[in-house]
Amino acid sequence: MNGFDPSKPFNRLPKLPPTVDLETRAILKKCVPVHAALAALRERGRQIPDQTVLINAIPLMEAKDSSAIENIVTTNDALFRDASLKEDSGADPATKEAARYRAALHHGFVALDKRPISTKSAVDICRELKGVDLDVRRVPGTTLKNHPRQEVIYTPPQGEDLLRDLLANWETFLNAETDIDPVVRMAAAHYQFEAIHPFVDGNGRTGRVLNILFLIQEGLLDQPTLYLSRYILKHRADYYRLLLEVTTKDAWEPWILFMLDGVESTARWTTEKVGAVHDLIEATAQYVRDAAPKIYSRELIDAIFTQAYCRIGNVVELKVAKREAASKYLQQLVRIGILREEKVGREKLFLNFRYLQLLGNDDNHYEALPVSNSNISPRRSSDAIEDH
Ligand SMILES: Nc1ncnc2c1ncn2[C@@H]1O[C@H](COP(=O)(O)OP(=O)(O)OP(=O)(O)O)[C@@H](O)[C@H]1O
Ligand SMILES: [Mg+2]
Repeated sequence: MNGFDPSKPFNRLPKLPPTVDLETRAILKKCVPVHAALAALRERGRQIPDQTVLINAIPLMEAKDSSAIENIVTTNDALFRDASLKEDSGADPATKEAARYRAALHHGFVALDKRPISTKSAVDICRELKGVDLDVRRVPGTTLKNHPRQEVIYTPPQGEDLLRDLLANWETFLNAETDIDPVVRMAAAHYQFEAIHPFVDGNGRTGRVLNILFLIQEGLLDQPTLYLSRYILKHRADYYRLLLEVTTKDAWEPWILFMLDGVESTARWTTEKVGAVHDLIEATAQYVRDAAPKIYSRELIDAIFTQAYCRIGNVVELKVAKREAASKYLQQLVRIGILREEKVGREKLFLNFRYLQLLGNDDNHYEALPVSNSNISPRRSSDAIEDH
């Protein structure tokens, strides 16, 4: 230990970059498959014709898992249903919290066009995901405790000026010209952000949104469609332990390797998922074209993948059809086994249940599509005669 006392504010938190080498042999070696995995994800993502499909789905899953780290538990089902409804949907608090995370991720993504990641971006993200008008901590008393014993394991620095100074250094490290690999920089900056712990609450989630935004800023992702919180949730104990060991033992290498592995494995997982989504969209399009050619349009197919729970209003908003026709189309998709109708209050929701199944599992499985007539090989006329 370096004289670290978990119960005292860690005002000696060193600035970035760390004095230890961030690019050890092991780290540099690991960067190779990480970049290959990110490139594969970008490539696969671009094959989906309507990009809103992915922007709607993957961040929702990311929101669910990132919020679950804080023990805010919601389900894919509730989240996707809520996403298709209006603000006052009466969703449970956990679902609303995850929906706010997704909104913070989305707005952070849009804001990247205007300015690079900064202290202000962090404040904006945290405000949005907590739903309150907060700012950098001014009062003492923030501590990190372990579960379930509730012992204080870390006390972040204290004093607004010090926090702002550390954040300014963090911001410079993220945006300065450097030849340190961007994924390594993301990992180092994530530790630093969590160690600064600028807010009373929401630091973990804000930091995880910032990770994704930084990869986009660096051109390693096109969209906020890396499901990184999945890995962090699965390895939560390691995540906490490794963060603490950077503070107590200067153990940067295991921390960086952990985050690199997280980016690589979630990039691969997300690539597979996006591939399966692509296949399901194409198979659905083909089936609807055969089974209900009169209502088929590419826009209609995109609409039921943009909203896994689709309302008639969504189809109208997407300019696929006017209200009466939209209602008819969705009913017809129910009849041919593509959607299921659900009533929530007075509202009718049309559930793209295969899509939700696919998003909700690891093996990319979903119920087989019905067999359309034209998929059955046409009978020869002589067969038809024999039937009589
Ligand atoms: N030893 C540590 N040093 C610095 N940061 C840590 C340490 N252990 C955990 N953390 C970070 O603190 C976060 C929790 O802080 P906080 O409660 O403010 O965030 P949150 O978003 O509300 O919660 P959560 O991350 O659990 O969803 C963890 O997610 C992790 O990122
Ligand atoms: Mg918290």
